[in-house]
Amino acid sequence: MSSKIQKIGVFTSGGDSPGMNAAIRAVVRAALAQSTECVGIFRGYEGMVEGDFQPLNSSSVSNIIQRGGTILKSSRSKQFMTKSGRKQAYDNLKAAGIGGVVAIGGDGTFKGALEFTDEYPEIQFIGLPGTIDNDLFGTDYTIGYDTAVNTVVDCIDKIRDTAASHDRLFFVEVMGRDAGFIALRSGIASGADAILIPEFKTDLDKLVETLKNRYTMKKTSNIVVVAEGDDQGGAFEIVDKVKDRLSEFEIKVTVLGHLQRGGSPSSLDRLISSQMGVAAVEAIVQGKTRLMIGVQCGQTVEVPLEKATKYHNAIKPEWVQLADTLSNI
Ligand code: F6P
Repeated sequence: MSSKIQKIGVFTSGGDSPGMNAAIRAVVRAALAQSTECVGIFRGYEGMVEGDFQPLNSSSVSNIIQRGGTILKSSRSKQFMTKSGRKQAYDNLKAAGIGGVVAIGGDGTFKGALEFTDEYPEIQFIGLPGTIDNDLFGTDYTIGYDTAVNTVVDCIDKIRDTAASHDRLFFVEVMGRDAGFIALRSGIASGADAILIPEFKTDLDKLVETLKNRYTMKKTSNIVVVAEGDDQGGAFEIVDKVKDRLSEFEIKVTVLGHLQRGGSPSSLDRLISSQMGVAAVEAIVQGKTRLMIGVQCGQTVEVPLEKATKYHNAIKPEWVQLADTLSNI
């Protein structure tokens, strides 16, 4: 039986997402409840390599549950990708007495954790899915996704006001380099006329036909939501490809960009972050490692990091069907 863990480190890595602070808070408070010390590792793996650590207590995480971003800051570390960088990180963790780490981030963060624990298995690693993209396998929701979708819906509602006033066609580009979750969910929730996502081949002829039908039906303001990683390109590129065939429309493009990553987390993001943070500490205390904590049907689940990184969360065809049914009239 291994001895009780004395100190847990927590860090955020990769693109920040709303709810990361709520997750940090949950990790710290759960660790303290287990009489385990907690240390904040700043700037993700970069701070691990550089030994940028600070003890966290209950009041360090007061008043952050409602804040977007991450109080621990984030980065994408090049140093950690080298063997010598990981050795330095290991030496720093050992010197600080940290035996277990909670890594809040996405795919790249988890791949780093696997590489590190292949070399240094004695440091336990538990991942929490932190990305607005919702592209991680094994969880219904990633931290930040719900907030990002709500932000996009709010923006599209506003765009719709001006689109309707001027009878314009808007192409709204949302984040999702490789995943269409934000586009699909926000598109359905905002009543978009078409939604273009990387997981499905975009048929520009069909798009043009749909929009022309709209025009014939005297629907003169329209919204097309485009995931940035669509196979036909981003919103500007797609508009370049179709604008000559849509001369009846006045076309505008809005790229929402990084505003989708900011803002106060939704209640759903605060709740799942809290659940996952507590479950991560429990897993470490039980001696577990190389797991991602996810949520499925409202319950926390443990998913091997190998699986979470090997597979991708798949878009459910019924949601695509729903979007099609609602826009193809
Ligand atoms: O992975 C989250 C994400 O927001 C993607 O949707 C987006 O493509 C990317 O990060 C942007 O990253 P950066 O902030 O490094 O430009």
